[in-house]
Amino acid sequence: MELIYKTPIEWAKQAVEDMDAFLQDHADAERKVANMCLSLIAKYPNRVEIIDELIQISVEELLHFKQVYELIRYRGQELNGVFQKDPYIKGLMSIVRSDSEQLFMDRLIIASVAELRGSERFKLIGEVCEDQKLAKFYTNLHLQELEHIDSFIKMAKIYFDHEQVDIRTKEILKKEAEVSSALPWRSAIH
Ligand SMILES: [Fe+2]
Ligand SMILES: [Fe+2]
Repeated sequence: MELIYKTPIEWAKQAVEDMDAFLQDHADAERKVANMCLSLIAKYPNRVEIIDELIQISVEELLHFKQVYELIRYRGQELNGVFQKDPYIKGLMSIVRSDSEQLFMDRLIIASVAELRGSERFKLIGEVCEDQKLAKFYTNLHLQELEHIDSFIKMAKIYFDHEQVDIRTKEILKKEAEVSSALPWRSAIH
């Protein structure tokens, strides 16, 4: 799977100008993905084939949250508790279909595509961040998030025709490119 819109390195250079703001947004994002996995379990308790994997990813994302929180404190800050609405996720969710089966498929594919974007951007942050501790963290995190991309697509393919999943993934990638390229740059993942 490949992103259609590639984030320019200038985005990362601008994002790291306010690394404290970036970390706040990132902490929030990790916490939200952990929540999203748990909410999928709550919404689809009968999809027993994916519950273990969703718990596992949720645990990993919660660990990322812990690590980002530690970095915030390492920089002498605290969590600011300001939870911003994520225009990126809102933009992506606008494409979901209302039929319950299709909605389930869309949710999993969107989760995968969002992991792909996050991973792309963590890599860029790792390349430009001057603080070596942070740079190392982001380069490493990029690799960890890469694994989640496949996990969500594999989950979708347990329940749906592989070709259908691939077709829908292409449509969602197109939407994702529209959304992410149109958003103004700020010290945040999206
Ligand atoms: Fe994560
Ligand atoms: Fe992830």
